[in-house]
Amino acid sequence: MARRTPTILSTHIIILSLLSFSAITLVSGTYDGFVRTMDSKLLGLHKEKLSHFRLYWHDIYSGSSPTALRLVRPPNNATGTSFGAITIIDDPLTQGPELSSKLLGRAQGFYAQASQQQVGLLMVMNFAFTQGKYNGSTITVLGRNPVFDKVREMPVIGGSGLFRFARGYAQLRTYRFNQSTGDAIVEYNVYVLHY
Ligand SMILES: *[C@@H]1O[C@H](CO)[C@@H](O)[C@H](O)[C@H]1NC(C)=O
Ligand SMILES: *[C@@H]1O[C@H](CO)[C@@H](O)[C@H](O)[C@H]1NC(C)=O
Ligand SMILES: *[C@@H]1O[C@H](CO)[C@@H](O)[C@H](O)[C@H]1NC(C)=O
Repeated sequence: MARRTPTILSTHIIILSLLSFSAITLVSGTYDGFVRTMDSKLLGLHKEKLSHFRLYWHDIYSGSSPTALRLVRPPNNATGTSFGAITIIDDPLTQGPELSSKLLGRAQGFYAQASQQQVGLLMVMNFAFTQGKYNGSTITVLGRNPVFDKVREMPVIGGSGLFRFARGYAQLRTYRFNQSTGDAIVEYNVYVLHY
């Protein structure tokens, strides 16, 4: 007995010091003045998951409360593609194709006509969700949108809140387009990896 106690004690001491050592490395990592490595679990990042969102994006120029404002009009339109135009948007995102269906959030940002060969947009948008557990979280979409193609694809380049570290892509299909007003409803299928 007398011989075993010190062994148990020292084993405990080794385990304890190992635990506290790993706790310290978890918390502080190697801190080099301004940067340190961290264990992702400290930020609550456990398992990455894949979510699929389907939403409808409403770009409204007409009526008394448009959600799309053409801010920059190109001085000439020689190519017929509105090259140089810039539009700021605060577009509703709804669950169904009708504007009256459940509002899930808003697409806020801008798009610019950045192609001389076709109507091709550079789109920069935050999808700001307002429903349920996603309320307050955002995903950021930035990409190229040749609007008259049947299916377009744009990258999801990041996010906030529940979408921290998000990456993925969105597939777009025009659901309805009114040539005379410019109003458009576009179906977005967004596939996003996040924690
Ligand atoms: C540019 O020309 C095209 C084709 O005529 C027209 O559909 C489009 O509305 C014009 N864009 C602007 C900003 O005037
Ligand atoms: C979303 O969050 C905002 C700000 O916290 C709150 O005012 C609003 O009621 C929330 N909406 C829903 C649908 O939970
Ligand atoms: C386009 O919008 C105008 C004005 O709101 C409307 O009169 C017309 O019926 C719409 N066209 C289509 C194809 O929906």
